[in-house]
Amino acid sequence: MTIPEITAAEAAAMIHHGDLVAVGGFGPAGSPKVVTPALAEKARREHEAGRPFKVDIVTGASIGASCDGELAKADAIDRRLPFSVNKDLRQAFNKGQVRYNDLNLSDNATLLRQGLTGRISWGIIEACDVQEIHGKLRIYLTAGIGIAPTICRLAEKGVFIELNTWHSTKIIGMHDIYEIEAPWFRAPIRITQPIEHIGLPYIEVSPDHIKGLIPTHLPDEARTMTEATAVTDSIGEHVADFLLWNMEKGHIFRNKLILQSGVGSGANAVMGALGRSHEVPNFYIYTEVLQEEPMRLIKEGRVMGASTGALTLSPDHLKDLYDHINDYRGRLVIRPSEISNCPEIIARLGVCSLNTAIEVDIYGHVNSTKICGTKMMNGVGGSCDFTCNSMLATFTCGSTTKEGKISSIVPFCSHVDHTEHYVDAIVTEYGVADLRNKTALEKAEALIAIAHPDYRPLLREYMKLAGHYGGHTHHLLPAAFAMHDTYRRKGDMRLTDWSEYIVES
Ligand code: COA
Repeated sequence: MTIPEITAAEAAAMIHHGDLVAVGGFGPAGSPKVVTPALAEKARREHEAGRPFKVDIVTGASIGASCDGELAKADAIDRRLPFSVNKDLRQAFNKGQVRYNDLNLSDNATLLRQGLTGRISWGIIEACDVQEIHGKLRIYLTAGIGIAPTICRLAEKGVFIELNTWHSTKIIGMHDIYEIEAPWFRAPIRITQPIEHIGLPYIEVSPDHIKGLIPTHLPDEARTMTEATAVTDSIGEHVADFLLWNMEKGHIFRNKLILQSGVGSGANAVMGALGRSHEVPNFYIYTEVLQEEPMRLIKEGRVMGASTGALTLSPDHLKDLYDHINDYRGRLVIRPSEISNCPEIIARLGVCSLNTAIEVDIYGHVNSTKICGTKMMNGVGGSCDFTCNSMLATFTCGSTTKEGKISSIVPFCSHVDHTEHYVDAIVTEYGVADLRNKTALEKAEALIAIAHPDYRPLLREYMKLAGHYGGHTHHLLPAAFAMHDTYRRKGDMRLTDWSEYIVES
């Protein structure tokens, strides 16, 4: 092997203030774990010496705490894209200390190739094995890919590989590395069924592009999912009934069900409930992250095959997968994010998407990202990639949050990520609002019916007041955010008094 073995500190020493550092992996899965903490240390030393030190960080999606958390705490990030779930970094975004560019994950690699989001200085990726064959280096990745292939090609100063022996080399063969060609007239991306391979099981690079191998032995930093609740179980049952009803009607195909499931504890629990429904036939998954419940369903045979961008599993669950790898072989494919989230493939496969909403308005617009329209939660992630291109785009959410003081269904979304034109259905614990083939006012009726009973009269009152003003889509604009404003002032949306918001002309 001609690649030098170096320490994380030696790698960090080569990275300079102002560099754009691109980090492989997708979520905590397969993300590097030692160079970024060393970079945080370097930033602290530079700051103590009175020198500026900040880098820009681009990743495939979110990333582990040893990157986002450590660098945020060291005040070492100037600009971050395209997605993050880290609490320390979220605070920094919302205080305006880090410039955050919240992007569709499918666009991320393309934007880098176009040079629109900056030129990558350094790449840091994680591998379970590296082999030098005929003068080329083959890099075998771990539990997530993200934009690693693009990083390896575009990093101008070079790439560091964290060679992590915690991950088993048994995962080799599950990756399908394919980078989208540049437009115009590019070839179709020929994935016609979820677990088809179209690329290579490794990234191939010239050895002189790799500036060092850093040996590690560390598990991924995935959080354990919170337990399912009565609300998430009930949402899962409604989703199952809704899918079955669509099959009976012929709106979706019984023997070709391909689901996508979103991120977070809610999405994980809904997938579990769906798997328990005996009427829902065995299905496939085409998604960006596989959390614990879908993995269990693959093992049980309920999921016949799954394509994902990452295995976002706690160390125990990932170890179990490595121990029983033969149960998953031929049924699991890990793809770069531009392929796991590719609009062309999502549309071709007829994926039914299931994502989680923060809030939904009575006309079917969905907010996935900003609490009360201002505070960034995580980002849009792949929810837009899937929603815009699915055959059936569904969002789920509990009807309330914060002990019932916030209704998830509001007159007007305080921020819109997904417009009514792409959103097909909303599911709460009170049922399904099927928004397809409905006018705006019919959508409002269906959505109010699945709001929490405490909020239904409030929302109906809003509709009555708004109705006086007519139009195709009824709104009383001075009162459209009254529920949000009441929560801000009184700590509970249920205290909304519409008369305070009626402005007489
Ligand atoms: N107003 C205020 N706060 C709200 C809220 C609302 N309407 N809806 C949710 N919240 C708060 C919750 O109270 C909770 O707060 P806490 O952390 O203080 O407990 C927090 O937001 C997270 O809510 P929770 O229900 O625990 O979320 P989750 O883990 O199921 O994740 C999303 C839900 C929407 C945050 C998550 O799915 C996400 O980031 N989605 C966008 C990206 C995406 O969809 N990616 C998938 C594409 S494949």
